[in-house]
Amino acid sequence: MTESITIVDNRTGNQLEIPIRHGGVAASEWQKLLPGIWIFDPGLTATAACESSVSFVDGEQGILRYRGYPIEELAERSNYLEVAYLLLHGELPTAAQFSEWRHDVTYHTYIHENVRKRFLEGFHYDAHPMGMLVSAVAALSTFYLDAKEIFDPEARQRQVIRLIAKMPTLAAAAHRFSVGMPFVYPDNSLEFCSNFLSMMWKVAEPRFDANPTLARALDILFILHADHEQNCSTTAMRVVGSSHADPYSCCAAACAALYGPRHGGANEAVIRMLQEIESMDNVPAFVESVKAGHGRLQGFGHRIYKSYDPRAKIIKRTADEVFAITGKNPLLDIALKLEEIALADEYFTSRRLYPNVDFYSGLIYQAMGFPLEMFPVLFAIPRTAGWLAHWQELLDQDSKIVRPRQLFVGSEPRPYVPIGDR
Ligand code: CMC
Repeated sequence: MTESITIVDNRTGNQLEIPIRHGGVAASEWQKLLPGIWIFDPGLTATAACESSVSFVDGEQGILRYRGYPIEELAERSNYLEVAYLLLHGELPTAAQFSEWRHDVTYHTYIHENVRKRFLEGFHYDAHPMGMLVSAVAALSTFYLDAKEIFDPEARQRQVIRLIAKMPTLAAAAHRFSVGMPFVYPDNSLEFCSNFLSMMWKVAEPRFDANPTLARALDILFILHADHEQNCSTTAMRVVGSSHADPYSCCAAACAALYGPRHGGANEAVIRMLQEIESMDNVPAFVESVKAGHGRLQGFGHRIYKSYDPRAKIIKRTADEVFAITGKNPLLDIALKLEEIALADEYFTSRRLYPNVDFYSGLIYQAMGFPLEMFPVLFAIPRTAGWLAHWQELLDQDSKIVRPRQLFVGSEPRPYVPIGDR
């Protein structure tokens, strides 16, 4: 039997039977009974803006799956490039498909010389690398004129490959510029993550061989960050994509959304918070100050997860492997103490605030030598796969342009007053 709800308009006595589909009711049905009555939902907390098959999150149970595959299995057995293929194509690649995909992505890692020389090098010497990335991704649209051919399958696929391939190059270039180091060209004999680490850290050696454990840890972090259904940046991607803008402009908008401390900037905020706490002795007082309303516990809480974020569990394990090589991040003990105290405190448990993906990822990135400013950039590299998967899905669904309504609360009509009479 189809599930449905009955809505009665008490003003008129009219009633309407609305089917529940995939756990939701269609606004188009609702509007048949209540035309002109808008649903007030400022943070879109109760609004499903699309149907999607890319990833599944169950916040109550702490479950995350990409295209049906549990995140735990992907983190353990897959690699970022394969996961990117899965998100974008809906299925895991065969060996031949993966080999072609890896070749195509590797082939497109170089950026046009003018992106670097004329564009990136035009930034102020102390520019934030995430600000540089946001702008550089948007600028790419001016280099690929076929980017506007969003309904041509081949042109679309070319932009997808270019974006996946060039994000690490742009990210590393932004870092090198911000610390005054020369740009390192991609080394296409290396795997995706090792190549990125080479572009980040290479100095004068002919070939930079990343520590395989660190390269694998980064690969796992990239897998964990590759998608997370309708988060703020993915929604930005979909909103801008709904106007049929090119994918570089859409991705730049998504990067901008990711820049904020409530989203991709949270892992940077976690480290700053731990540095401010300074010692384990100060943890209880810090927790009390958060409870008294002075700021938030960064890396805690999530709009969807109301239990432990499954990605945080995997990251905690990865952290141990990284610290075995880099040495323990001195902030780890403060983080563990903070988690212990918060998880035993009624303020946090009653609000169901648990560590999220960002609570430990920053500690790993810092131990690996990444400056804090690079943290949101490190998030943007893998999330590009998710953004593009949603963008493709949106175009294939032939979605309407996103254009919400508002509840007007401004002034009544009034006549213009000349400046001298105000
Ligand atoms: N520390 C202290 N209190 C918190 C926190 C926190 N981190 N998060 C939520 N609360 C409290 C909040 O004050 C509110 O309390 P009350 O009901 O008494 O007013 C209640 O919990 C609900 O908070 P909310 O702001 O309505 O929850 P939300 O779902 O809108 O916010 C969030 C989700 C992630 C923005 C928020 O939890 C937060 O700001 N966390 C810290 C930043 C962070 O770690 N962000 C990374 C998110 S995961 C990665 C990503 O998606 O990018």
